[in-house]
Amino acid sequence: MTDDTSGQPIFKGLVGVFADESAVSKVMVETNSLTYRGYPVQDLCEQCSFEEVAWLLWEGELPTRKQLNAFRRAEAAERGISRALVRVIEAFPKKSHPMDMIRTAVSFLAQEDAEAGDISEAATRRKALRLFAKIPTAIAAACRLRDGLRPIRPKPELGFSENIFHMFFGSVPEKRVVKAFDVSMILYAEHGFNASTFAARVVASTQADLHSAVVAGIGALKGPLHGGANEAVMQMLKSVGTPARARGWIDDKLEHRALVMGFGHRVYKHGDSRVPTMSRYRDSVAEATGGQKWVEISTILAEEMMAKKGIHPNLDFPAGPAYFMMGFPVDFFTPLFVASRVTGWAAHVIEQGADNRLIRPLSHYTGRPQREVVPIRARG
Ligand code: COA
Repeated sequence: MTDDTSGQPIFKGLVGVFADESAVSKVMVETNSLTYRGYPVQDLCEQCSFEEVAWLLWEGELPTRKQLNAFRRAEAAERGISRALVRVIEAFPKKSHPMDMIRTAVSFLAQEDAEAGDISEAATRRKALRLFAKIPTAIAAACRLRDGLRPIRPKPELGFSENIFHMFFGSVPEKRVVKAFDVSMILYAEHGFNASTFAARVVASTQADLHSAVVAGIGALKGPLHGGANEAVMQMLKSVGTPARARGWIDDKLEHRALVMGFGHRVYKHGDSRVPTMSRYRDSVAEATGGQKWVEISTILAEEMMAKKGIHPNLDFPAGPAYFMMGFPVDFFTPLFVASRVTGWAAHVIEQGADNRLIRPLSHYTGRPQREVVPIRARG
C-alpha cells in the first residue's frame, strides 16, 4: 500500500539523520572518542569529579574552585525528599521495577516543585539542580524500603557519589570504589542525541516542562536496547556463572543468533569511547572487592564476540558488573544511570528551549485508502 509521499526516503530508526545542532557533546566515531563541551571524557574522568562535570554540561565551562564549592553546597542542600514522597515510594508493590518507581517519583517531585510549570531558562536550571540532588535520595529510599529497611537521610557533608553509597548502605566504601562509581556517573552523563535525550528534547520542544521531559527520558532509558542494558548485562554474567562456562555459553547464543547484551552501538561501530576507561575502573573495583570472576567472564565474552561477530562492547558491559561488585541490587543499575543522565537531559532541554522548533517528523501512510463510513444499521 502506498501514498503520494511514497517516493520520500524513510530513515527507519532515524539512522543517519541529523535532527538539530548541539554544543553539549561530540561523538567522534572515526576516533572512538567523545567530548563534553570540548573536553575528552577520559580526561574529565581522571581529573574531575562528577559535580564538576555536571556544572560543565550545564554552564559550558569547568567551574572555578569557588563556583564548584557553591554548586556543591547548593546540591547538598536540595537532597532531602518529603515524607509525602517517601509514602508514595512505600506504597509501590514490592515487585515494582525501580525504573517505574523513579519515573513516578519524578512526576511526584513535579507536584511538589513550585516552579514545575515555569519553562523559563532560569527556572529550568533551578529545577535541574533540584532533580539532580533529589533523584539519588528517592532511588536509595526505594531500595531500602523494598528490603524492609528505613531510608537513610542524605549527609550534606558528603560528595555526590559518596552520599549515594551512604544512602544505600549506611557506609562509604574505600576511595577507589567511590572513584569508580564517580567515573561511571561521568561516563553515563551525556551522549549526544541518544534515544532518551531525544525523547526529552521532543517533549521539551512542545514547551512542556523539565519534569515532563525527564519522565520521558526515564521511560526511554528503561528499555534494554538503551539504559536497561546495564541490568541485562549483569543478569547475563550471572547466568554464565563461571569463566569455564563463558565460551560455550556465548557460542550457543551466537549460534541461535541471540542478542548479547552490552554489545553493539548505534553510533560506534569500531568500539565505544567510554569502554576502556570504565573497564579499567571495573577492574579496580574487582581488585578491591574480590570480584575477579566477573572480569574473567567479561573478558572471555568480549573476546568471543570480537572473534565471532566483530562486535565491540558498549559502556553498559563494564558498568553492570562494576555496580554489582559495589553492592547495588541489579534492578537499581538503570536508576543509577538516571541519576547521572539527568544532567545531560537537562543540558539538552535548556539547549532546546534556547532555539526551539517543535519536533514533529512525518510518516508514510500504509493503511487503507480513503473510504466511506457505512452507518451501523447497514454494517450487519
Ligand atoms: N548481539 C548480537 N548481535 C548484535 C548485537 C548484539 N548485542 N548488536 C548488534 N548485533 C548485530 C545485529 O544482529 C545485526 O546483525 P545482522 O546485520 O546480521 O542482522 C548487526 O549486528 C547490526 O545491528 P543493528 O541492530 O542493526 O544495530 P543498531 O544500530 O540498530 O542497534 C543496538 C544498536 C545497541 C540497539 C544493538 O547493538 C543492541 O541491541 N545491543 C544490545 C543491547 C545493548 O547493549 N544496548 C546498550 C546500547 S549502549
